[in-house]
Parts: sequence; C-alpha cells; structure tokens
Amino acid sequence: MPLVCLTDFEAHAREQLSKSTWDFIEGGADDCLTRDDNIAAFKKIRLRPRYLKDVSKVDTRTTIQGEEISTPICIAPTGFHCLAWPDGEMSTARAAQAAGICYITSTYASCSLEDIVATAPGGLRWFQLYVHPNRQLNKQLIQKVESLGFKALVITVDVPKIGNRRHNITNQVNLMKNLLLKDLGSPEKGNLMPYLQMSPIDSSICWDDLSWFQSMTRLPIILKGILTKEDAELAVKHNVHGIIVSNHGGRQLDEVPASIDALTEVVAAVKGKIEVYLDGGIRTGNDVLKALALGAKCVFLGRPILWGLAYKGEHGVEEVLNILKNEFHTSMTLTGCRSVDEISRDLIQFSRM
Ligand code: FNR
Repeated sequence: MPLVCLTDFEAHAREQLSKSTWDFIEGGADDCLTRDDNIAAFKKIRLRPRYLKDVSKVDTRTTIQGEEISTPICIAPTGFHCLAWPDGEMSTARAAQAAGICYITSTYASCSLEDIVATAPGGLRWFQLYVHPNRQLNKQLIQKVESLGFKALVITVDVPKIGNRRHNITNQVNLMKNLLLKDLGSPEKGNLMPYLQMSPIDSSICWDDLSWFQSMTRLPIILKGILTKEDAELAVKHNVHGIIVSNHGGRQLDEVPASIDALTEVVAAVKGKIEVYLDGGIRTGNDVLKALALGAKCVFLGRPILWGLAYKGEHGVEEVLNILKNEFHTSMTLTGCRSVDEISRDLIQFSRM
C-alpha cells in the first residue's frame, strides 16, 4: 500500500522501529499534553477560502534569511538520525538538497558535519547549537560550522535541563552512551568522546550572553523555543535575526501552549522586525497554510522527517517532503493564494469548538 499522507509514515515507522527508538522519537514530556495539543490545536482552526482568482499558476517559493527555498517547509533539528536509518543525517541532507529547502542540523547529529556537508554540498543548512558550558568548545564549533558553509546559527533556548520523558526512563534509553560526539572531540588526539562526558547543556545562559555569540560569528542568530511576547520582545532587543516558535515538540515543559497557539502573540510582539518561524505538529498542507496565515515565514518538521528516514532513508524523506509540498500547493490553490505573499490572516476563522 502506498503511503499517501504523513500519518501513514508515522504508522509505518511505528511498525518498523524498535520500541525504544519509537518511544524516543515519539515521546513527549510528562503527560504529553503539549505534544498532542500541537496537533489538535491546528484542527480547531478553520479556513476562509476565496474563489475566482485565477489560480492556474501557484508559486510556493519563498525566502528565509534572504535565501530562496522551494516551499516554506523545512527540516527542524532532531538528533541521532542513525537510529532511524544507517547513514542518518547524510540521507536527510541529500533529501533536503533535492527538495530545495533548509535543513537545520542538530548538535546531536550522529554523522560528522563534514560528512553531512560533503554528501550534499549545494544544500541550504543552518546549525542548531545546544550551548555547552565550556565556551571554548562553543567557539570551536561555531567557527567550524561557519567555515563549512552553514548559513545561520540556531540556538535552542528551551533546554536548560532535559524534560521529563517517561518512556525514555522506562526503556532506559541511554543514547548518550551509544553515540559519539564527532564534532567536539579533540582532532589532535583523534578521540571521539561520548556525549555523556562531552555534551552537557549550559543552564546558566542568559540574554546578556547573546552578545558573546554575536561577537563570535557573522552568521545570523535564530532563537529556537520562544513562546511568549516577553521573550520575543527581548529577542528583538538583543538583535537576533529570527525566532522559531516551538515547544520542542512537547518534549520539554509539558502544559505550555501548542506552537500554533503561541504564534500570534510572538508575531504581534516582533512587529515585523525579524522573521518568525514555527515548528510543532505540522502534518498537513493546511497546517502549513494556517501557520503562514498567522505570521510564520516558514515551518519546520521534526518527527515526520524521522518517519521518512525509517521508511526508505533519503527517498523516504523526499517522499514526506513531496507529499507535504503537494498538499500545501493544493491548500494554496483551494484558498485562492497564488503566492505565499498572498497568504494572510483573512484566511483564518477560529472555530468555537
Ligand atoms: C527533537 N527536537 C530537537 N530540537 C533541538 O533543538 N535539537 C535537537 O537535537 C532536537 N532533537 C529532537 C529529537 C527528536 C527525536 C524529536 C522528536 C525532536 C525538537 C525538534 O527540533 C522540533 O522542535 C519538534 O520535533 C517539532 O515538532 P514535531 O514536528 O515533531 O511535531
């Protein structure tokens, strides 16, 4: 049976993967209320289509941080792609390049950054940083990603501590022990240090520390994990270049709003001064349309990319991206939007459900 929508890939991955890998990918924090709400919240929003607008040509292209992408659907950072497919992030990078979209590579990538870049040299990539307590290691890594051609630095702010993911505790998943940190190991000694020793996350990081990162790199800095107008205003004040509205797929603090519900307040707070993106719960073309109508410049996919990898590696990810791109094209056409610039708040009707 062909897989025709993203949830088909989810069902297939559930059958394909070991229980501990499935739980690691799918799991949310605590009661998983926010994880599930990320999806449910989209379904409460209704659309207001406009007709008789000549939609014989519909263009899904847009830009992020000045770079063109074929559609406003990109890849969120997720760690350990080798759990889902043997050559992991290399497959993801090739699929992203083929689709003409941006792939945010995680600090916790299970392939080396050099290999990821070499396998898809023409792809648009951003690098996601979990800030390490050792400033020198951050500096080394930032300089490396800049020299490798990554186009933005995405700092994840919602992980001062890992959320309480019950499944991982039950399964005693200890990815840290099994995977090596290839990009922070000392090249001289050739030692690949286990993540456990090498990659704690700095929980002391504050707004004032951002200037250190800005002095370190010419790359635009994007903050991932902002959910409130207060933090959005601070982000603008501290001269970052973009915000990803995200609750980490419901894996960090449970019982925060669904990403789509937090988007409006963040968009209002930044007043168009920087780009705002969204991840969390995007599963259909209509979800993409709704996020753009509420002010996101583009959306990012987390779990669906891992489902695609588990299906057929690079080709599975390509299929996931193609299906969603086609669905989004249909959503645009059926609501009367010929270009992404025509997607506006007028398309949205909040239902009373
Ligand atoms: C993540 N996420 C994540 N975020 C991040 O900044 N760095 C990371 O290394 C990871 N790793 C990670 C692993 C797995 C298995 C998942 C599911 C998620 C969060 C991710 O970037 C994104 O915010 C959510 O996954 C988006 O929600 P959906 O699309 O999964 O619903």
